[in-house]
Amino acid sequence: MKESNNYFFYHKDSKRNIVPVEDEQKNEEAKIKIKEILEKHKQELPQEFRENVDKLKLYSPKGNVKEAHALILNAEDGAYDLKNKLNCMTGKEWTKFTCSWFIFNALPSDLKEEKSLNLNTEEHPATYSPTMVSEFIKYFTKEGDNVIDPFVGIGSTLVACKRTGRNGFGIELNPKYYEICKERVPEFAENIFNADCRDIDKIDLPPINYSISSPPYWDVLNRSTDGFREEREDKGLDFKYSESSKDLGNISNYDEFLKEVCSVYFKLYDKLSTGAYITIIVKNVKKEGKMYPLAWDMARILGEKYVLKDERIWIQDKIGLSPYGYPNSWASNILHHYCLILRKE
Ligand SMILES: C[S@@+](CC[C@H](N)C(=O)[O-])C[C@H]1O[C@@H](n2cnc3c(N)ncnc32)[C@H](O)[C@@H]1O
Repeated sequence: MKESNNYFFYHKDSKRNIVPVEDEQKNEEAKIKIKEILEKHKQELPQEFRENVDKLKLYSPKGNVKEAHALILNAEDGAYDLKNKLNCMTGKEWTKFTCSWFIFNALPSDLKEEKSLNLNTEEHPATYSPTMVSEFIKYFTKEGDNVIDPFVGIGSTLVACKRTGRNGFGIELNPKYYEICKERVPEFAENIFNADCRDIDKIDLPPINYSISSPPYWDVLNRSTDGFREEREDKGLDFKYSESSKDLGNISNYDEFLKEVCSVYFKLYDKLSTGAYITIIVKNVKKEGKMYPLAWDMARILGEKYVLKDERIWIQDKIGLSPYGYPNSWASNILHHYCLILRKE
């Protein structure tokens, strides 16, 4: 048995590498077990595994065929455990995502794709990357699951759903962004609602398996500094979401904003299936020289209904620093966001 195609059984060696088991008898038993697994569980496997059944190997870290409950497609990508209830990831991919922080900057490939889906994507003043969101969606759902973004904007979350084979839903108040969103993901057009997301309880939705969203960061866009507003105005682009009184980004009182934004996620709770996670991407913000701990306040308030599971910190390290406060007082450049992770348990 020299060719890797002849091996059907892998284990972890003393150096913790995943390697073939050099035992003909065990490989024969593994071949039979793979066939049995495919007969019973083929539809539950990740798409790539389903499409490459001839290349699958059985895996048991300790090399025990009877106890084995994981499959390998490429040894270097790790093994997919048949007991995985949460996602379609191998153990290796799962572990990689669990770092409590990550660095992510806008990708030219994302921007290129955005432009090809709709030329007006630059109209929106604060979008996030479908590539970044895809990583969350892949971790917190399986293929075919329902994902909702109640502040969907121009639909970056739904582009991520399309890329990862999930079913996307979204709510957006501004009719202009709603139209761009539908153009970017026409396959989800019937799942996109031009509405105030505080009315989410009145929208007919199937049980939702996961939600990822980024609400307005209070009224920061209404008082943008550092040339952001002037630059966008010069190009004829929006520098705020809208003039609407229903736009949460137009609420100037902090406590009122906090109450309203949390009310959306409290109502979303009833739309989620039990065990579903939600991720909210948000920042602590500053106003008139004082910090308002928006991320921490939302975590505390929503933690009264959801279980607050964790935070992942998203760091942007390619944005230039401005001399805020110089030469009188302390004022940081806030270049990190909190990805709050909560669960309906
Ligand atoms: C930070 S942006 C989200 C952008 C989105 N993640 C994207 O990449 O396109 C917040 C969005 O919430 C929308 N919004 C504000 N108030 C809303 C409300 N009451 N109901 C629904 N959407 C609202 C804004 O118009 C804006 O598009």
